[in-house]
Amino acid sequence: MEKFIVTGGAPLEGRIRVSGAKNSALPAMAAALLTQERVILHNIPRVRDISTMRSLLDEMGADSSLTHEDHGNRVEIEARKLLHPLAPYELVKQMRASVLVLGPLVSRFGQGRVSLPGGCAIGARPINLHLKGLEALGAAVKLEHGYVEARTARLAGTTFCFDTISVTGTENLMMAATLADGVTILENAAREPEIPDLAELLNKMGASIEGAGTDTLRIRGVAHLHGAEHTIIPDRVEAGTFLVAATITGGHLIIEGADPAHLAATIAKLKECGAVVDFDKSGSIEVTSPGALQSADVTTQEYPGFPTDMQAQYMALMTQVVGTSVITETIFENRFLHAFELMRLGADITMEGCRAVVRGKTRLTGAKIQASDLRASASLVLAAVAAEGETLIDRVYHIDRGYERIEEKLVRVGAKIRRISD
Ligand code: EPZ
Repeated sequence: MEKFIVTGGAPLEGRIRVSGAKNSALPAMAAALLTQERVILHNIPRVRDISTMRSLLDEMGADSSLTHEDHGNRVEIEARKLLHPLAPYELVKQMRASVLVLGPLVSRFGQGRVSLPGGCAIGARPINLHLKGLEALGAAVKLEHGYVEARTARLAGTTFCFDTISVTGTENLMMAATLADGVTILENAAREPEIPDLAELLNKMGASIEGAGTDTLRIRGVAHLHGAEHTIIPDRVEAGTFLVAATITGGHLIIEGADPAHLAATIAKLKECGAVVDFDKSGSIEVTSPGALQSADVTTQEYPGFPTDMQAQYMALMTQVVGTSVITETIFENRFLHAFELMRLGADITMEGCRAVVRGKTRLTGAKIQASDLRASASLVLAAVAAEGETLIDRVYHIDRGYERIEEKLVRVGAKIRRISD
């Protein structure tokens, strides 16, 4: 199993380029199932979840190829016919986003069979709203033997309101509605930037979607979709992670290729702590922390609020600023696992339900710790580059799911990180 050995203490200085957004690439790849023609996607990040999604599409009978390009990979997918509209447990348990194939399968082929994802480190993460929405569109949904099976002669447009805002729920139903008969209105939809990015691809494929990025989507069903070419948006969470990397080490980074508009809440919070964040017309974001940063409370919210995917990274930063901060996690019920590992490094954190109280500034010293989930891993890397001495981080396969060779990017700006395997 691979590990990182991190020697902390150096301020990070230099330029880092962000990769394409994993959470935009995954639904875009699933969208290719909606047409028999070729879909070409650029700026796909070289991360494990993308490989898993390719394996899933190939397993179902789609043809896909991956080619290195200057920025990220180009992935081409052709789902002419599908031998098995099935997402097996072995792949779904590796990546819950596999559920994103269900909407396209039911909409184009009239049937889809996807393993229930099961739990995950950060919470139960049910998919009941995905299924409730497909039923509202006219699919017959059956749950048995750990699988969900959805069938229909043809989906029919309807109005569906999400009880809870769901990112992949919105994506799944938006894709399903593109080939439904009639108009579908999705209310209380997610507004994350990955939704408009997916809608842009679908509209390039011939769909008719309005309102993406707002809480109400209007999708007029069409008879079929055709191939298209699309470049995935940059990864706002990777960019946010590097913003914290600069501030937690008292360094100075220029983050290239990001879209500052997708990071407004994160940037505002870092500025509240005293960081200086500027961006130039090319979209590069420059961040420095001129003096000692101050603590600031944060509550995670759906976009455009402070993202839950930045909560773990922000907690690491709060251990290194002066003052007490209260971090409230409102999206997932168990997303503080990183706190226990940060405490092994010397952090002073107490937790009660969805709140964590962090007392800073505490001296962090290197120790053996282990990652539990994707963003928790990023938090541990950030704390380790700020800690004195050497830290061994185990189970770094979690971080490889969503960060493209993070250690190589951080080493280029002065971090001391080695990947080892035993
Ligand atoms: C997406 O997950 C992201 N993943 C997550 O990123 C991200 O943390 C999350 O959105 C929130 O922003 C991808 O896009 C692939 P949700 P998703 O459905 O869609 C409840 C990462 O780090 N819910 O928006 O699975 C759910 O339990 C990952 O890259 C239901 O109750 O999240 C949660 O409390 C981690 N029933 C809340 O809604 C449902 O049917 C938000 O979940 C669906 C969701």
